[in-house]
Amino acid sequence: MIHIEGLWAGYGGLDILRGVDLLVEQGSITCIVGPNGAGKSTVLKTISGLLRPRRGSIAVDGAELAGTSPATVLRAGVVQVPQKNALFAKLTVRDNVLMGGYIHRKRRKDLERRYDQLAGQFPILGERPDAPAGSLSGGQRRTVEFARAMMLEPKVVLLDEPTLGLDPLSLATIRDSVRALHSGGATVLMVEQNVRFGLALADRATVLSAGRVVLTGTAAQIRDEPDLMDVFFGAARRGEPAIPE
Ligand SMILES: Nc1ncnc2c1ncn2[C@@H]1O[C@H](COP(=O)(O)OP(=O)(O)O)[C@@H](O)[C@H]1O
Ligand SMILES: [Mg+2]
Repeated sequence: MIHIEGLWAGYGGLDILRGVDLLVEQGSITCIVGPNGAGKSTVLKTISGLLRPRRGSIAVDGAELAGTSPATVLRAGVVQVPQKNALFAKLTVRDNVLMGGYIHRKRRKDLERRYDQLAGQFPILGERPDAPAGSLSGGQRRTVEFARAMMLEPKVVLLDEPTLGLDPLSLATIRDSVRALHSGGATVLMVEQNVRFGLALADRATVLSAGRVVLTGTAAQIRDEPDLMDVFFGAARRGEPAIPE
């Protein structure tokens, strides 16, 4: 689905990603974990077209997207859920979600049909359509952001740290919502600072450290990998913050 090879990218004169290879299989939930500053968000920014890579290839369903625009990436079916506060607090759940589909210029009736379909996967859409988004909990708002991204019927959804800033009670909501994205037909590529959460949810995982892939495999293999914690504790020894669970 997404095939990344030899990706180099950075900011100004500085290389952050130094030859990243990543394969995201169709229908998978793939998770990138790694210490703070490893380049995880940079991988997503490069895929979504916000950052132009210096070298390397990003193919989605065989189409080369490296160096194209965010609009081209969106048209190729890849949608990134913005990191936070992406909803209009005073608008209702329903209007926030419907807004996600306007870019397709579909008729209102078609958008509403899609909304009803999504309510089957994201219960909050059916339970509280008229609630202002600002009145929801953090986990519920994140769920509405996911549903809005699904209005575009994406092939791939990119999630950058979906649990960031949420209380532990919201983790179950986020887990269910990531599964809802997946059962709604999207391949999911997520980045997670909560290693335990990310590896429990994903079926494939890649460990990134200092802009390079150090481990890749099934999430179960990565969970059982004795060197995994070395990646994080090694980072801590280098003075980078350790990863909270
Ligand atoms: N817009 C930017 N300009 C300059 N440096 C950046 C920018 N964004 C991130 N960086 C740097 O790139 C490195 C990797 O960042 P990032 O991809 O956000 O890491 P992660 O998501 O793994 O924590 C960090 O050293 C960070 O300071
Ligand atoms: Mg990040």
